[in-house]
Amino acid sequence: MEQSRPVLSARGITKHYGHVQALRGVDLDIYPGEVVGLVGDNGAGKSTLVGVLSGATTPTHGRLEFEGRPVELSSPLAARDLGIETVYQDLALAMDLPIWGNLFLGRERLAKGLLGRLGWLDRKAMIADAEDKLAGTRIRIGSTLSRAAALSGGQRQAIAVARAVSWGSKLVLMDEPTAALGVEQQQRVGELITDVASTGLPVLLISHNLPQVQDICDRVLVMYRGRIAADLNPREHGIEEIIRWITGAAVKENADVR
Ligand SMILES: Nc1ncnc2c1ncn2[C@@H]1O[C@H](COP(=O)(O)OP(=O)(O)O)[C@@H](O)[C@H]1O
Ligand SMILES: [Mg+2]
Repeated sequence: MEQSRPVLSARGITKHYGHVQALRGVDLDIYPGEVVGLVGDNGAGKSTLVGVLSGATTPTHGRLEFEGRPVELSSPLAARDLGIETVYQDLALAMDLPIWGNLFLGRERLAKGLLGRLGWLDRKAMIADAEDKLAGTRIRIGSTLSRAAALSGGQRQAIAVARAVSWGSKLVLMDEPTAALGVEQQQRVGELITDVASTGLPVLLISHNLPQVQDICDRVLVMYRGRIAADLNPREHGIEEIIRWITGAAVKENADVR
């Protein structure tokens, strides 16, 4: 995969929150079609890094390149305009809206003609499209008319994932998208990620589910105290070794290398 051009590259990214150094110089390249696992202990900096890559968090230092050109992701909207979609840890769903409304959140479609100019939404078209979008995923939820508030935690998570993969055209970032899911739904989301990547759309997946990470990821980045401490091929490195990087044991042994 190294021969193609990265979709997104990060160089020397740091992020300070007062005295806390959440990121201490992160370099990263994400290539088309790959599933990249991002693992690490709580507080390692995973969500902060995804925030930077998704435009939600402004880095203190460092730069980003999108398809070989320098970019500033000044907001999540700027990232979305480039085709970068994100499943945030808090899901970012509007609880009062139905499923279809959540799938079109921030992308509402106006009715044609005068009504549209008056601000009327094309509800029918969005509902029909929402059904297509969900059918295109492995996620089965029932009616797209149900309000998000009426869904289980797992179903909400599934909606956030479906929204990201159905709108993302260049990169999908996922911050623990399977944390609230049961075993079967976790497996479906895993298969969906594999499907999505096989169309060329890369996925960066934060997860604590190491067997799943090992199963579906092409490589696994381990964050330790604000740095990417290791970039591992899960075919060559077992879960025990990944854990040794997560806990810092391997970081210390390799201190002379990195
Ligand atoms: N908005 C914030 N304000 C202050 N500190 C923060 C903020 N966001 C994250 N941090 C700190 O940055 C570090 C990395 O956090 P985070 O990126 O959430 O880690 P992870 O997702 O790997 O658990 C932690 O020490 C956390 O407390
Ligand atoms: Mg986090």
